Amino acid sequence: MEVIKQVHVIRETVQSLRCSGKRIGFVPTMGALHEGHLQLLRASASENDITICSIFVNPTQFNNPDDYKLYPRTLEQDIQLLEIAGCNYLFSPDAEEVYPQQPLLHFSFGALEEVMEGEHRPGHFNGVATIVSKLFHFVQPHRAYFGQKDLQQVAIVRQLVKGLSFDLELVCYPTVREADGLAMSSRNKRLDTTQRGVATSLYKAMQLAKEQLGQEQVADIKANVAAYLQGIDQVKLEYFEIANPDSLQPLTKLEGEQEVALCIAAFVGPVRLIDNMLVNLN
Ligand code: PAJ
Repeated sequence: MEVIKQVHVIRETVQSLRCSGKRIGFVPTMGALHEGHLQLLRASASENDITICSIFVNPTQFNNPDDYKLYPRTLEQDIQLLEIAGCNYLFSPDAEEVYPQQPLLHFSFGALEEVMEGEHRPGHFNGVATIVSKLFHFVQPHRAYFGQKDLQQVAIVRQLVKGLSFDLELVCYPTVREADGLAMSSRNKRLDTTQRGVATSLYKAMQLAKEQLGQEQVADIKANVAAYLQGIDQVKLEYFEIANPDSLQPLTKLEGEQEVALCIAAFVGPVRLIDNMLVNLN
């Protein structure tokens, strides 16, 4: 695997690959790779001629300076994992390379960015849209791979691809979980043993809600989830929503819905975690 740090080099590399007819799969990440990322990389390696991964802890999508500073960075181990997963190129630029000047452009995603992650992390999706647009321009992939773990991010990127006419196919893979249900996340590396133990309560809360769908009113299910998490030390619920899986708008009743997305965000100690689950109501 070749490691590339400069924008002009990744551009030239991609140009020559495309000229020789290669199909390019792309997996954008912020590193500290785990099985959730590796699933995307293996899928890309099997579905395309060439796989490019990017590792860039993107400053513009962090609304909390501590979260940015403490985000796990494990580049050497990541490189080994990428080699095993069959990745051909790693693009891991420095911030000055990606942002030679402060970005001035602003994106607007309407109602999609006014709820859940958009509401609770102001500016986050603007930063995601900025970096994903830049990476798509640098890498020019035929296919780009994203995880359902960040469901609202997938919806934002889908709008971005449509809105800016990126000529690529978006591919989404399901959430990979630990044996106890905790969704894999780079931020899990920041949990201490006690926090890691209680972090599974996000998944358990969604399971609880899932069992109550069709039996209880939305408001009651939300209250039950809040009450369940309130009883768990070190866990502080930020939101739990039952949302339309496409628009991601929170629902107040379930009549007429075929499928819903259960979406949760909570602090476990100092670490903010998110998770979601798609549930078919039929
Ligand atoms: P990061 O959190 O590193 O995630 C990179 C990709 O891996 C995302 O598409 C994410 O949804 C997916 N992923 C993370 N955990 C997963 C899991 N447990 N199961 C399945 N997929 C999982 O998301 C980002 O980085 C950034 O916002 C990025 C898109 C790179 C832009 O900076």
